[in-house]
Amino acid sequence: MIYDTAADVLTGDVFIKLDGFVPGFDTNLKVEGLNPTGSIKLKTARLLLERAECSGVLCSGNRLIESTSGNLGIALASLCASRGRHITLVTDPNANPRSVQYMKALGADVVVVRAKDQNGGYLQTRIDYIRNRLAADPDLYWLNQYANSANTQAHSTGTAQEILRHFGPPDWLFVGVGTSGTLMGCVEHFRKAGAPTRIVGVDAEGSVTFGGPAGTRRIPGLGASRRPEIFRDSGHFQKVLVAETDTIRTCRRVALDHGLLVGGSTGTVLAAIRALRDQIPEGSRVLAISPDLGDRYLDTVYDDEWVMARFGSDVAEAETARNGSNLREVTELAAQP
Ligand SMILES: Cc1ncc(COP(=O)(O)O)c(C=O)c1O
Repeated sequence: MIYDTAADVLTGDVFIKLDGFVPGFDTNLKVEGLNPTGSIKLKTARLLLERAECSGVLCSGNRLIESTSGNLGIALASLCASRGRHITLVTDPNANPRSVQYMKALGADVVVVRAKDQNGGYLQTRIDYIRNRLAADPDLYWLNQYANSANTQAHSTGTAQEILRHFGPPDWLFVGVGTSGTLMGCVEHFRKAGAPTRIVGVDAEGSVTFGGPAGTRRIPGLGASRRPEIFRDSGHFQKVLVAETDTIRTCRRVALDHGLLVGGSTGTVLAAIRALRDQIPEGSRVLAISPDLGDRYLDTVYDDEWVMARFGSDVAEAETARNGSNLREVTELAAQP
């Protein structure tokens, strides 16, 4: 197969069964990390850019700017390189060093903001930085994945349709929440299609998106220190928060038991499946969306020193209980009326 550009390689039909992950039902991953930019964000980046180009708001001389925790930045940097566009990517110290190197290698300007916002995260600082740059430069255009409906649409017309076409409606679908584009898109399309799937949105403890208190988070991808504008708590999905310690334990356990190095968000949604296992009927088909693979996390989630310094030695040691009976630090939030 010959593709026109790297960004044209999409891998929407790849699913991996995690045999015996939880006894009694099938756990499957929709693997999004196998395209050339290594994450689900390639779909988001393509639509953000195409929408801006088609609507005419983006003039040929415009340079782009966007806030990213890593994966969207890599995808946009790849697209911009092949289209001859200039992009500035604004990220923070939680971004994996490899992701920052990756964005730079693709020719993007990368700005790392270091001041924490009032919720102890960096998102508001990143956005304030972008607003200041926009005020000073009329040729700069902000794609704004947190407020742009193209983000949701990339998943309602992309991810959700791929699931129904290639996997069929799962009984349960677990989706991590960063900007919430993936979750909102899946909820929208599954409801429109009348799919009987129970959808669970999974976020990191310390994120404010579901209305919980702000707290320190160190793993990029999930969570926000300000609620994304596109997030709607429609009542059509269940909400679960997972502690980062469980994310790390689950990532490491999956690597050892299944030979698959998954990214932090994938560990988080898998931890949520274990947490809800008593609610999931035997024989169910459960699907979790895996936004990226684990190679970008070798210096963090999979690095003993990094984990020990931040979470303690008991988290750094590999789990031994196959059924994850010690994964208890998970909070299920009551559904909104
Ligand atoms: C690593 C990782 N986790 C989680 C997500 C969640 O996605 P969203 O921003 O659509 O909520 C993404 C999105 O690409 C991601 O790259």
